[in-house]
Amino acid sequence: MQVPFTLFLAVIFFCVSEACFGEPEGVSRVLGSGSCATSGCHGGAGLGKGAYNIWKHSDPHDKASATLTNGQSTAIAQKMGIKSAADSVSCTACHAPMKNVAPSLLMPADQGPAEDKDFSCANCHGGAEKWILSHTRPDYPRAALEKLGMRPLGNAYQRANACVACHQNLSNELVKANHPPLIFELDGLLVEQPKHWREDEDFSHVKTWLIGQAVALREIAAQTLREPTDARTAEIEAIKELLAASGTGWDRESKTDLVKAADDFAKRVSTAPMSTTQARTALGLLLQNRKPFEISAFGTVAEDHRMRAVGHYAERLALALDRLNQSLIAAGEKAAFAEDSLNELFIASPPPKSFDVDITENFVRKLDAMTAVNK
Ligand code: HEC
Ligand code: HEC
Ligand code: HEC
Repeated sequence: MQVPFTLFLAVIFFCVSEACFGEPEGVSRVLGSGSCATSGCHGGAGLGKGAYNIWKHSDPHDKASATLTNGQSTAIAQKMGIKSAADSVSCTACHAPMKNVAPSLLMPADQGPAEDKDFSCANCHGGAEKWILSHTRPDYPRAALEKLGMRPLGNAYQRANACVACHQNLSNELVKANHPPLIFELDGLLVEQPKHWREDEDFSHVKTWLIGQAVALREIAAQTLREPTDARTAEIEAIKELLAASGTGWDRESKTDLVKAADDFAKRVSTAPMSTTQARTALGLLLQNRKPFEISAFGTVAEDHRMRAVGHYAERLALALDRLNQSLIAAGEKAAFAEDSLNELFIASPPPKSFDVDITENFVRKLDAMTAVNK
């Protein structure tokens, strides 16, 4: 097998399952974002044409490497025995991925505009050396560009694979050093990232949410094979419960290995349409499900981690209800919940590791109040 493309973007360490290996044959070297920035290309105004400016002015990724020099990063680095976070691959893998691209894979400076040294368009779109010219031709087929190394990002499954690499798994070492916990929720991330593209008419927030959860499950399951911990098992069981409770076809009894089962599910959801009615049904089912809050819940999780599993479930449920709301609003329908009641639910779900019986009871009370309104 060829060296996967993402490997030289150093992201692959974290996107550990097979599904992230669907990269092109041959290698298209990385051009700097400067080569996208002229006003006739992506340095103009509006969507698409303004991608570079939107990126430079408001995208969180353009600031990700600056984070590595702040006090919080210094504290994390110290705990890990790292001298400089900004120079350590333990941090730059996600915060400044361009730093890890082998020099042989960068276009020499005299052959193009300056490189973006930290985070660049290439980290999501792929090295552009081979497609930079063809992609300006409107008649050039997308599939052919993808063969040349342009990364497909059109559907939610493809995007999930691109984003999850940096947005879910942390190594045990980073967890112990108090890196802020990551929770992958694709729909929210896509809404929050300042958009430099236009969504299709049939974009579905619920579907995007669901695919994101399945891909998060896949990644945690794959990471668990390398670094098993009770905390990961707790999160895995919480996501499985959430998928099952949404009534969208997740097979609780599946005997397929979890990495594959989660990936197959994400792909299946990705290729099927989802109507507003289906979204609303999933919402109703999630809202009514109280099983995860019962004393007998999460029996397969180590006893001292069961409350944590409840916490992970609660955290992801609150996010789910928010996304489902978003979906209804986007479809021009009435939101299912008032903004205030959702906010209360978020406040009632502190970090999973702090969950206890009282916190759980309070969370369920908020949920009951929302359920009553929706009767
Ligand atoms: C697996 C990818 C990954 C790695 C590796 C990683 N980070 Fe992060 N880090 C993130 C993401 C994603 C966020 C944003 C989390 C959020 O806001 O939800 C983040 C957030 C942070 C924050 C909080 C930033 C803020 O504005 O709140 C700090 C500080 C930080 N990282 C420092 C580090 C340091 C130091 C290292 C290395 C020791 C490191 N990170 C390694 C992905 C990573
Ligand atoms: C964090 C990931 C990320 C980064 C970094 C990023 N993009 Fe994007 N970009 C996306 C996603 C996701 C889409 C939507 C793709 C789609 O729907 O096909 C997109 C779409 C686009 C589109 C529209 C393409 C189309 O077919 O509609 C352009 C143009 C674009 N990006 C240019 C850039 C440029 C230029 C940069 C660097 C300055 C950049 N992007 C950096 C994620 C990213
Ligand atoms: C190479 C790693 C990497 C990839 C790939 C990546 N991100 Fe990020 N992202 C980060 C890091 C690191 C941060 C934290 C920035 C900081 O330091 O404040 C971040 C922050 C963000 C934030 C703001 C903080 C938050 O968590 O709400 C959003 C939104 C976001 N990313 C969306 C996306 C989306 C959408 C994609 C896929 C299209 C994506 N990212 C792909 C590394 C990545």
